[in-house]
Amino acid sequence: MFKVRDVYIDGQKSPMGIEEPPAFRIVAQSSVHSTEITAYRVQIGERPDFAPSMVWDSGVVSESSIDAIACPDHILQPHTRYYLRSMIWNNHGEQSSWSDVVFFDTAFMKDQRWESAWISPSENFAEPSPCVYMARDFIMDEGVVLAKLHITARGLYEVEINGQRVGEDYLVPGFFSYDKYQLYQSYDVTSFIHAGGNRLRALLGDGWYKGNLTSNWHRCYYGDKRELLAELHITLESGRKLVIGTDDQFYWWYSPVLLSEIYDGERYDARLEKPGSDQYGYHDEDFHKVSTRHDFSIPLYADRGNPVRIVERIRPKRMFTTPAGETVIDMGKNISGTVAMRVRGIRGSRVVLKCGEVLDQQGNFYTRNLEEFVLDEMDDHPSIQNIEYTLKGEGDEVYMPHFTYQGFRYVRVDEFPGDISVEHFEGIVLSSFVQQTGFFESSHPGLNQLFDNIITSQRGNFIGIPIAGPQRAERLGWTGDGQIFAHAACYNMFTQPFYRMWLKNIAADQFDDGNVPISVPFIGRLDSDEEKPLDSSAGWGDAIMVVPWLLYLHYRDVTTLRSMYPAMKRFIAYLQESGDNEYLYNEGYHFGDWFALDGGEDTWTGKTDTAFLASAYYAYSVKLMAKVAHALGENEDSLKYNDLFENIKKEINQHYALHFTSVEKATQTGCALALNMGIVSSSQESAALNTLLKLISQNGNHLNTGFIGTLHLMEVLAKYGRYDVAYRLLLNESYPSWLYTVNQGATSIWEHWNGIAPDGSFWNPRMNSFSHTAFGSVGAWLFSEVCGLSPLEDSPGYKQFNISPIVNQALTWAIATVDTIHGEIVSGWTLEDDQFTLTLHVPTNTTAIVVLPKPMDPEQLTKEFVSEGYHAEVTRAKDVQFIVGSGSYKFSYPMKVE
Ligand code: BGC
Repeated sequence: MFKVRDVYIDGQKSPMGIEEPPAFRIVAQSSVHSTEITAYRVQIGERPDFAPSMVWDSGVVSESSIDAIACPDHILQPHTRYYLRSMIWNNHGEQSSWSDVVFFDTAFMKDQRWESAWISPSENFAEPSPCVYMARDFIMDEGVVLAKLHITARGLYEVEINGQRVGEDYLVPGFFSYDKYQLYQSYDVTSFIHAGGNRLRALLGDGWYKGNLTSNWHRCYYGDKRELLAELHITLESGRKLVIGTDDQFYWWYSPVLLSEIYDGERYDARLEKPGSDQYGYHDEDFHKVSTRHDFSIPLYADRGNPVRIVERIRPKRMFTTPAGETVIDMGKNISGTVAMRVRGIRGSRVVLKCGEVLDQQGNFYTRNLEEFVLDEMDDHPSIQNIEYTLKGEGDEVYMPHFTYQGFRYVRVDEFPGDISVEHFEGIVLSSFVQQTGFFESSHPGLNQLFDNIITSQRGNFIGIPIAGPQRAERLGWTGDGQIFAHAACYNMFTQPFYRMWLKNIAADQFDDGNVPISVPFIGRLDSDEEKPLDSSAGWGDAIMVVPWLLYLHYRDVTTLRSMYPAMKRFIAYLQESGDNEYLYNEGYHFGDWFALDGGEDTWTGKTDTAFLASAYYAYSVKLMAKVAHALGENEDSLKYNDLFENIKKEINQHYALHFTSVEKATQTGCALALNMGIVSSSQESAALNTLLKLISQNGNHLNTGFIGTLHLMEVLAKYGRYDVAYRLLLNESYPSWLYTVNQGATSIWEHWNGIAPDGSFWNPRMNSFSHTAFGSVGAWLFSEVCGLSPLEDSPGYKQFNISPIVNQALTWAIATVDTIHGEIVSGWTLEDDQFTLTLHVPTNTTAIVVLPKPMDPEQLTKEFVSEGYHAEVTRAKDVQFIVGSGSYKFSYPMKVE
């Protein structure tokens, strides 16, 4: 069997909203070993039968690379549906049949203008006000062949046609810098429109545009007027094309959604519903004319990321009464999303809920970690994560909040009509609809739970952009958390479209001097203290370097690398120019090794010197820049950045050597950064490593690193072959460690190692999130070391990759699968009675460099491989290394277990 498994368009299946010629990716599948692609053919037509409507036929192209086939310029027209199919050939002389036909839709292409107007209700309230409905009728006197709706809002919208909800997206148009650009979504609504009268009705809320943002409860950050922009592009049976958009024919009125805020939650009064107002012809005295605005100075782009969807519906695990007498529902895990309900009761009765992440030491419902974050900024105790629903009293009422989400596991039920039971509720998991492509499982239940927790927190923090903490009044796109977790994230899920959209925002929000903000979308300085402006930090802004590089490594995304290149160069130039030494980053405020434990009780920045850390990250980003330049064929730049790196390295060694060589002065993070970033001079390398190992053993064989150090610590221990120490840290069950949190019942990744301390007390409630991704960075290690599956810098996108599992006695088996851009890789091993077995799957058109660990007799095993035709060799570490082509394999041999 040889076939096209899938075809992706810019990494997506059947995307809408194509504005630029996309790239096509073909995933091939073959049952024959060592299959390589030799040629492909792609056809694009305006109809699924191609022939008469052919727009482009690539012909048979002799080329082995099929992961980024460029669509030629100028062949695509705006607002058109195109069909695509492909065929491939391989090195065994086989030809596939045509693939399944896929389609994609173009939207507004170059220079093409929206014909409609921004419309707004003729109210202008800076304070929270009820969400508004906006609606317009239209008549179809002919059958519709294709109808597409392009829509966006300044605020948040939900849209229906004839009472039917359009699309499955939530919290759209999303969180981005509304002052710089505007994203819109596109939907196929052909089946929504019928002959005769139709009604388009949208519900408009405040969202990030106008609602509360940050712990200061800052309102109207981007504007104080909610607006809607929509355009229906309709193709009629006669071939005639029609555009119906937002204009002065729209009416607005207040909806039953009395309040809906990202942080606060929602208040809904079903008694205010207007039955029939979603249908053609309905009108009453509350309907008002809208205002229009024709200003398109802020550019509009199609949302090509991953909008928020319902990714799971949870039946609550249990309901119980706390010692304080509260009725609490337990969803079983700490999710982001909301609560849906089905309820019956008399008119005017209410359901009142509050969402929280954990129970306190006594087992009572706990939300101080949400409230104290804002308390000293505000007089009033803020309402946060509340849901209130007032019944209309007409049989079963079904409700789910609209423009808000909660970070929670527990729901306190404060009011409910009649008997409460879990049957009435459902936990709705909202997350950017990023497909999970990485899976890990092992014989160790604790590690499996850790992996689950990482996935739960990835989902919980992927809300249109990568946020940090989905619960307190923050939920911002912190660039530090974003970059630290990105490697793990790329293993776990197909993140390319998601990060691309965030990078677009990072580039847009880059400061004029080239520096990159601490959070993107940048919502302004959090600190008014001009002496110490809090708008950037080493290890945070570096997201502009790290994330594009990871997209290149995992998905061979050259397009993003190329488009970010100028912005990356500007960032490096900023680092170079800042401070009084070109080769040190010795200026500005830095968060440091955020929440490291070595700074002492309740400190935030850890012990690692922030100036040293800043220069280390400077070196790291410059090194990445040299690699990026090399990957793009910018060789002069690459040499230049390599030179710069060497100079920074020299300067760091001169100024900061003690920070990674002296046991008194050094920290685990300091050593880990220096060694992992390659900035330790060769004469000091073993001193730095020994210092690191000593610091770990002095700390009772435990880590004490923060957000920044933890990732580099685990990577560096692997880099220097100290898997024994790394495994000890990974498998530690006592505090501080990952499995400590698992043993405390964590179902997500905590912001602090001691979010709940061994004595049961909480970390400072001012900042204690139970879902943050940073310490989940270890997820990458489960793939890259435990199962040994890692991408290679000189063969990005897993065209060639490593399989070199690191076995540990505490595990009898482990398996990882990653669905890469070429197809699924499987790397699994078992260790039973000193017999090691590796099960491997290598996707079609790729090769793997396999390193079999610790055979009892490496020479003999190598001979066997050579006799089977492999180029096998014994490595310095006495492992056996060889290269295999695509296919499934099993290798089994006696292992020397240490
Ligand atoms: C966020 C972080 C972030 C940090 C900056 C916190 O409030 O939640 O995770 O990186 O501030 O230091």
